[in-house]
Amino acid sequence: MISFKTLLAQENAAPELIDLVAVILSTCHHIAEQVGHGALGNTLGATDAENVQGEVQKKLDVIANDLLIEALTAHGSVRAIASEEEEHARLACSGAPYLVAFDPLDGSSNIDVNGQIGTIFTILKARDDVPDHSDEQFFQTGRDQLCAGYVLYGPYTTLVVSTGAVVHEFTLNKSSGEFISSKKDMVFQQGTREFSANMANLFYWPKPFQNYITSLIAPQPANTRFNMRWQGAMVGDVHRILARGGVFIYPSDTRDVAQPAKLRLLYEAFPMALLVEAAGGCGYTEAGRILDTPLTQLHQRTPVILGDKNWANACFTALLIIN
Ligand code: AHG
Ligand code: MN
Ligand code: MN
Ligand code: MN
Repeated sequence: MISFKTLLAQENAAPELIDLVAVILSTCHHIAEQVGHGALGNTLGATDAENVQGEVQKKLDVIANDLLIEALTAHGSVRAIASEEEEHARLACSGAPYLVAFDPLDGSSNIDVNGQIGTIFTILKARDDVPDHSDEQFFQTGRDQLCAGYVLYGPYTTLVVSTGAVVHEFTLNKSSGEFISSKKDMVFQQGTREFSANMANLFYWPKPFQNYITSLIAPQPANTRFNMRWQGAMVGDVHRILARGGVFIYPSDTRDVAQPAKLRLLYEAFPMALLVEAAGGCGYTEAGRILDTPLTQLHQRTPVILGDKNWANACFTALLIIN
């Protein structure tokens, strides 16, 4: 039974970095326990607050956010923290080497229906050229990530983590709190004819992309047809394609000219793109590679295409016709 510490050490991850990942994971174990109480705990339902993105915060969004901030602030290796649920970056420990950004609870709309939810995180190097507490600390590209991962609180709790070289999957032993290796070196499966997209938005996608997706679901011989899955939680949908291939797509939407994309670059697209690319897949926005996109606003949004190298490329090309 190999622990995540051993596997990350084999990739020459610094001991301090491994220690920081351990803090995130023990907090995720705690979140998993809270999630597991369901209706018997005081964790379901909404608060009466909104986050900076105008979303009503669920109780679990706030619980998971507070647990992560408390643990990371106490740890001493984190200079600044950024969260989906907080307007600005917050100072943790001046002069410390790392930055952590996270989506404390991804898939909030699934909380009350016992659907898939998870925590997504990324770790970057702190910058000495901007103030310790500033949003600018995080203004880096996806290639600057030192480590990224997610914990999926499904029927069992799964961790997928990478420093950018290889991707490993672990399963939480709920009694010991340890994440035990369950898939070493995940490799993206090519050729799976399954895509993940919110088809309810089809008519609001750019027209050539509508045509492309419609061509996939048009009647065709059984062995060439495409299948569709949508969990409504990026963490669950991306886990599915990492586990069995396919493509996850969240394109821009023509309804909102000011804010055409939904997903957030820093704590959703960057970490998922690092994992997908390290497994041999590919990640695009509508303008280039996700990992090459510079972050210029903490809660910057981006269109997302993640998956099978050839297929992600075809989706990107279909979108490029428009741009
Ligand atoms: P969050 O719950 O962290 O706000 O993120 C929700 C995101 C993402 O997880 C998912 O892919 C997408 O929203 C689902 O959007 P739809 O409402 O289009 O299903
Ligand atoms: Mn949200
Ligand atoms: Mn999210
Ligand atoms: Mn969230």
